[in-house]
Amino acid sequence: MSLTELLEGKQVVICAGSGGVGKTTIAAAVALGMASRGAKVAVVTIDPAKRLAGALGLDLLDNEPRQIDAARLAGVAIEGELWAMMLDPKQTFDDLIDSVAPSPERAAEIKANRIYRQLSTAVAGSQEFTAVSKLYELSQSGRFDLIVLDTPPARNALDFFDAPARLESFLEGGALKALLRPTTLGMRLFAKGAAPVLAALRKVTGVDITTDLATFFALLGGMTDSFGVRARHVDELLHAQSTAFLLVASPQAGPTDDAISFHQTLAEGQLPFSGAIVNRVHPLLADEPLPDVELQLAEKLAATLSEYRVLAERDQANLTRLRAALQGAPLLLVPELQDDVHDLHGLLRIHQALFG
Ligand SMILES: Nc1ncnc2c1ncn2[C@@H]1O[C@H](COP(=O)(O)OP(=O)(O)OP(=O)(O)O)[C@@H](O)[C@H]1O
Ligand SMILES: [Mg+2]
Repeated sequence: MSLTELLEGKQVVICAGSGGVGKTTIAAAVALGMASRGAKVAVVTIDPAKRLAGALGLDLLDNEPRQIDAARLAGVAIEGELWAMMLDPKQTFDDLIDSVAPSPERAAEIKANRIYRQLSTAVAGSQEFTAVSKLYELSQSGRFDLIVLDTPPARNALDFFDAPARLESFLEGGALKALLRPTTLGMRLFAKGAAPVLAALRKVTGVDITTDLATFFALLGGMTDSFGVRARHVDELLHAQSTAFLLVASPQAGPTDDAISFHQTLAEGQLPFSGAIVNRVHPLLADEPLPDVELQLAEKLAATLSEYRVLAERDQANLTRLRAALQGAPLLLVPELQDDVHDLHGLLRIHQALFG
């Protein structure tokens, strides 16, 4: 089955998988392929290799999709449009505050709050959350036929798919609610435990963060419901039939184990899994007779060939395991290229492997 068929009718594609397997590369190639087939596509990437980002003209400081100049894409006929952005977690968090705060003044107050500034950089480090938040925003805008989301490196699929729920429980649930209700045990305990620490801090630094903390929680207080609603919408989007999860893997033992458990997590979470892409495969070569060359060279060649065969056979064994776990779900292969994928030429080769 071709990738075009797999993605028929999809509006969101999420490239998920464990660290370093090629999620960012595959996301870029999928976006390129669908744009060349006439769709208006936005790819949201996370931390792409500098040279690849440069080749695509991605601006580090921009948290909005920018259309990629057709001149950069010479060699590919783009019938649709290709847009790309690099996720800026902090900015995404700020945008989220803007969209859920009851007024611009309230949003400004929150963003200026010292605790928020700490929290948004620390929690914004939870890229999973900001990624899905941005995804939701873009899908709501209706500007694109297809949004391709690259995901942060994760060993466990749950980190990502739980993001909306985790945000909701963080903002709506126990800890915060307890703190917001000064009469609860939580608040009393908090006040008791924190007061001496805060007082000591104030003594040393001259900074009184008690006021900041209190203001922060008071400011957020009225907004937890909006956050909850947002988290539920995001969750619905992740589960929608118009969403496709592509599982990206590579054919070594570890990443194969990861892929098998990712697949299981997707199934358990009833998330719309569309297929797996195994990247960096060493295809088995046919047993060709060695070319008639000088003996020494022939020996070297034979050694290289047999090393290669070991890799190719290892890949086959892992592919067989993954195939069994996928139980007939689509599986696409992308070969190992000689070089890293750092420019359009490399991306085109990945694109070719995926789209034919
Ligand atoms: N088929 C391939 N052949 C050769 N090199 C590849 C191939 N696919 C990806 N690479 C290279 O592997 C490296 C990792 O790829 P990529 O950044 O896409 O992985 P990732 O899954 O996004 O990583 P991370 O989990 O760190 O975000 C990059 O240097 C990329 O150029
Ligand atoms: Mg990446």
